[in-house]
Amino acid sequence: MPDVLIIGGGVAGLTLALSVVQQRRVTLLRPRNDHQGASQWAQGGIAAVLSPQDDIEAHVSDTLTAGDGLCDSAAVRFTVTHGPAAIDWLLGLGMPFTPDTSPDALYPYHLTREGGHGARRVIHADDATGRALIDTLLAQARRHPAITLRDDLTAVRLASDSRGRCRGAHCLSADGEPLTLLAQDTVLASGGASGLYQHTTSPQPACGEGMLMAAELGAELMNLEFQQFHPTCLYDPAGAPFLISEALRGEGGILKNLAGERFMAALDPRGELAPRDIVARAIDAEMQRQAGQHVWLDISHLAAEDIRRQFPTIHAHCLSRGIDITQAPIPVVPAAHYSCGGIATDLHGASCVPHLYAIGESACTGLHGANRMASNSLLECLVFARAAAARLLDDPATAQGAVSAQDVDTQRWQDQATAASSPEWVATRFATLRQIMSHQVGIVRSDSGLTSAAEALGELERSVRHDADRQPVSVALARLQHALKLARLSVMAARQRRESRGLHFNRDCPAPAPQALASRLRLSDLSSD
Ligand code: SIN
Repeated sequence: MPDVLIIGGGVAGLTLALSVVQQRRVTLLRPRNDHQGASQWAQGGIAAVLSPQDDIEAHVSDTLTAGDGLCDSAAVRFTVTHGPAAIDWLLGLGMPFTPDTSPDALYPYHLTREGGHGARRVIHADDATGRALIDTLLAQARRHPAITLRDDLTAVRLASDSRGRCRGAHCLSADGEPLTLLAQDTVLASGGASGLYQHTTSPQPACGEGMLMAAELGAELMNLEFQQFHPTCLYDPAGAPFLISEALRGEGGILKNLAGERFMAALDPRGELAPRDIVARAIDAEMQRQAGQHVWLDISHLAAEDIRRQFPTIHAHCLSRGIDITQAPIPVVPAAHYSCGGIATDLHGASCVPHLYAIGESACTGLHGANRMASNSLLECLVFARAAAARLLDDPATAQGAVSAQDVDTQRWQDQATAASSPEWVATRFATLRQIMSHQVGIVRSDSGLTSAAEALGELERSVRHDADRQPVSVALARLQHALKLARLSVMAARQRRESRGLHFNRDCPAPAPQALASRLRLSDLSSD
């Protein structure tokens, strides 16, 4: 039976594993450290048309509006249409969604609202939907004899044969032992690139390593300039990153500046529930205007009992940091949250590299356009993992049999000098990279800022290459090198976009162009920079 190698253990990777395993033997690489990745930190929920008062056209239209003209409408319709079946599948696995206990409930599970949505359509498990999803999917995956979960290996490079087909991945163990995992099909479910920034909504997000590994094999990267900043991360300089879900605003939370004045209502008729790009920019502008470190999100006007019931995780976390959200406003600040761009794929997650698929945040399917609408990402993980699984099960190429070690140059990887850990300088250079991205390639950009980011990143990459030539390969060094290349490609995409649209706002060209065009780059484009 041919093998499928899945790189990434979040919602997309686990869903794919469970969806192909009836016919394919699966190996799934997941991080050993439970804090890594983004899925488990998702709070809000999964957007899908579930209420009898909602409809597919409305969800499609809200997604297109939030995406600011850049969504691929076929991808949007595909995702939205397949949403309800994905939720039914999860219910069948025992996913503990929060029930709607009100006597006039139209649907058995509670549906909340978030920015950009014109209806209540976000199904959730309290305010810790990602954790509940991972627990549900992982319990199933652990039980299945044909799924091998490995947390002892990290993929560092994809393996290919002489015909350019992806044939698995070259990996390192925690001790720095090199090993190649061969596979008939390889699926990247390795997350986005928010880790290129200093302040993020989850503690250890991916840094785009999967995207760059795919690009090394010739995959096209799309819309990299659209990095989403979530408007409301807890402002807690001494604490770990912590998201304050948009569902708080969906249930009535109000944003106020440091003078206690509400500011969203005057900026957008949708107020606090305008799409994220608009709210994050407004908060950023308010902070600049008042030279403040944060704004306030106030939900204390709601009944304390309702707040505790609907937001137990947020309530408990804030309390542990000295803030009782039933009594006091929450200090919040925008932080890097989601990469709308990624590996360009078709509607079944296939990249342009044969036998290489990408799903979840590592992919760019066209669904999110220039700005992802809240809770459409878990939906995309589920729908595209199931669609990729259908393709993998249908694909006649799977009948070709197992890949043999002769197809791939595994010896070169075995002979590579490797190390378990990396010198201190990797962390220092990563910090510099994040500083450049945060200062020059953040919520508001400018021509001069992007130019200096391109120069500084080019310089940093040259110095890393010089030092790296004398170092053995380690996971951290490979991650730094991938992150640097991805950062340079992201800046290149931002410089080439001579307009402002969605999440990409350049104060030197603040208007949208008449025609919305996706950006597409390959690794070879860096040589012309
Ligand atoms: C949130 O709960 O605000 C995050 C949900 C999302 O990013 O889709």
